[in-house]
Amino acid sequence: MHILVTGASSGIGRAVCEKLLASGHRAIGIARDLGKFPCDDRRFKAHTIDLADLAQLPAHLQTLVASYPALDALVLNAGVGCFGSLEQFSYGQIRALIDLNFTSHVFVARAFLPTLKKAGRGHLVFTGSEAALAGTAQGSLYCAAKFALRGFAQALRAECARAGVRVTLVNPGMVQSPFFDELDFRPGPAPDNYILPADVAEVIVQALTARDGTVLDEINLSPQKKVIEFGVRKKK
Ligand SMILES: NC(=O)c1ccc[n+]([C@@H]2O[C@H](COP(=O)([O-])OP(=O)(O)OC[C@H]3O[C@@H](n4cnc5c(N)ncnc54)[C@H](OP(=O)(O)O)[C@@H]3O)[C@@H](O)[C@H]2O)c1
Repeated sequence: MHILVTGASSGIGRAVCEKLLASGHRAIGIARDLGKFPCDDRRFKAHTIDLADLAQLPAHLQTLVASYPALDALVLNAGVGCFGSLEQFSYGQIRALIDLNFTSHVFVARAFLPTLKKAGRGHLVFTGSEAALAGTAQGSLYCAAKFALRGFAQALRAECARAGVRVTLVNPGMVQSPFFDELDFRPGPAPDNYILPADVAEVIVQALTARDGTVLDEINLSPQKKVIEFGVRKKK
């Protein structure tokens, strides 16, 4: 398979690329800084794109669609955490968060769907979150973006089924990844307080390799114990 992965430079996206490459697939990675993921596998192609820059994104996507006309699937995974009381955020920060965590995925899907539908096959896998399932204090923006993504994925699944395009949403709980580097909380230190990027990658690859004609609609996975450490922002 030939699969495009956004947010490929670290965490879940990187783990998905590593698993795909280890299984003999080809991957295209999108992120702002792919230097974080040095990979000399010739089956991996890296593209530096700021997905939050919605003004430039359609032009980048046009180039990608033309460069990769026979993709099998896309893993739409890029995202950042953003937590706090709503009034703590500027209007610009609110917009930036929704632009990246929701609208950029809509743009990427919009760009590639015509080709996938024409081919009569394809798969969009979105990284949602447990925040797509329940609203929580301090999570109004992040939850709103992930709820929106979940509604988008559900509607798209119904809309694309006839064309043979599958849509999957994966909702992880706390994953031990650089996601928490800029946040003031993180999963507790015990191994049952977090899931690993590789755990999520395994589920995503399972969805991608499901028998044709079946769809893993939504997959929720989370650590068995939900211990959280607060006041731990990483020192720069
Ligand atoms: N960690 C968790 O507990 C958790 C739980 C549930 C869901 N999620 C979701 O999982 C997804 C991946 O998160 P992660 O845990 O793997 O975190 P991560 O290690 O911080 O990865 C985030 C990825 O998104 C990319 N990214 C961020 N801003 C971008 C931008 N403007 N343009 C292009 N790429 C951008 C980053 O690359 P660059 O910085 O190089 O651009 C990086 O590759 C996110 O959607 C997140 O909401 C995470």
